[in-house]
Amino acid sequence: MCIGQADATCVWQALTSATMTGSLIFLGIESSCDDTAAAIVRMDDEGRGEILSSIVQGQTALHADFGGVVPEIAARAHVERLDTCIAEALSQAGVNLDALDGIAVTAGPGLIGGVLSGLMTAKALAAATGLPMVGVNHLAGHALTPRLTDGLPYPYLMLLVSGGHCQFLAVDGPQGFRRLGSTIDDAPGEAFDKIAKLLGLPQPGGPHVEREAALGDPRRFSFPRPLLDRPGCDLSFSGLKTAVLRARDDLLAAKGGLSVQDRQDLCAGFQAAVADVLAEKTRRALAAFPAPALAVSGGVAANTLLRARLETVSRDAGARFVAPPLALCTDNAAMIAWAGIERYLVGGRDDSALAARSRWPLDETAVPVIGAGKRGAKA
Ligand code: KG4
Ligand code: ZN
Repeated sequence: MCIGQADATCVWQALTSATMTGSLIFLGIESSCDDTAAAIVRMDDEGRGEILSSIVQGQTALHADFGGVVPEIAARAHVERLDTCIAEALSQAGVNLDALDGIAVTAGPGLIGGVLSGLMTAKALAAATGLPMVGVNHLAGHALTPRLTDGLPYPYLMLLVSGGHCQFLAVDGPQGFRRLGSTIDDAPGEAFDKIAKLLGLPQPGGPHVEREAALGDPRRFSFPRPLLDRPGCDLSFSGLKTAVLRARDDLLAAKGGLSVQDRQDLCAGFQAAVADVLAEKTRRALAAFPAPALAVSGGVAANTLLRARLETVSRDAGARFVAPPLALCTDNAAMIAWAGIERYLVGGRDDSALAARSRWPLDETAVPVIGAGKRGAKA
């Protein structure tokens, strides 16, 4: 069955067919940021995924007054909600704990209090039921999502664009991630959120900035396209954010306020710059790693302009473009359950010693980027 397919796919297929004796059903638990999530996912004996339930309890309202996620509030909310979230996932899937083959839980990277609450819940469930437990890197969850949603074979190029992360990953297998480039400062979602904040739009800012941008003129302000003058796939968004801040302040100084049109044009100019940069860097990443497919994940992948630009880049490179449904691009537990199953099939198992990690680079060999902080790469 492997004729004409990449080696990585063959190895994975051999491993999974040797390990699998039927379908597998996993509970996934996610609590690394501000979404409390639980899901039940099944992989059939041919390796196809099915989401039996996926419950996401967002916390946007709890953090709204603070202009960002407050870790302590997030952790408390996870502790209060995880049990009912898991009960709801089981109930919607129409199964009980006896039907499960394992428990997958996000073990990092993320806000440590939140990760710990998910981990303690998973450990308690595993101890009570005797089910195997698999710790999952949250980013692996995002990176493997197109396999769950579209059955995408290895290898492929993944562009992960969220509120906390931005990186290009060559994905060769359930644990085979090579980072080709990443942001050296802000993640694009973070930049969307900051632009929203400085223009008085609600949080999370991405959808609001996109809505304003749709009515604006992207050419009125000429914002920078950071790092396009340098080779490679690394990205930067903080200078762009400062340029928008300056343009806003110039308008405020000149006119004493912003018109609706000003705001729309600022959003359109900013969004166009982000899309230009991500499109060009994706083109380079596909040239460096000419995979048969480009997949995108993370909340910013919801952006319509960005999706259209990436689709064009993929087509030009002869690669298939895969963008999972929006609800599975943002944080959820179905992706954790799926990544847990994939890890389980290649022998991944954890016990009560599994530690929560605030920082956990997917590609442990990648050199930390500038701006990654004193403690090294977060992800
Ligand atoms: O993946 P995600 O749900 O959470 C993590 O960061 O892990 O991503 C959330 C981010 C937020 O920064 C939000 O503003 C951004 O995704 N976002 C968007 C859009 N929808 C959500 N950014 C641009 N355009 C959008 N339509
Ligand atoms: Zn995420």
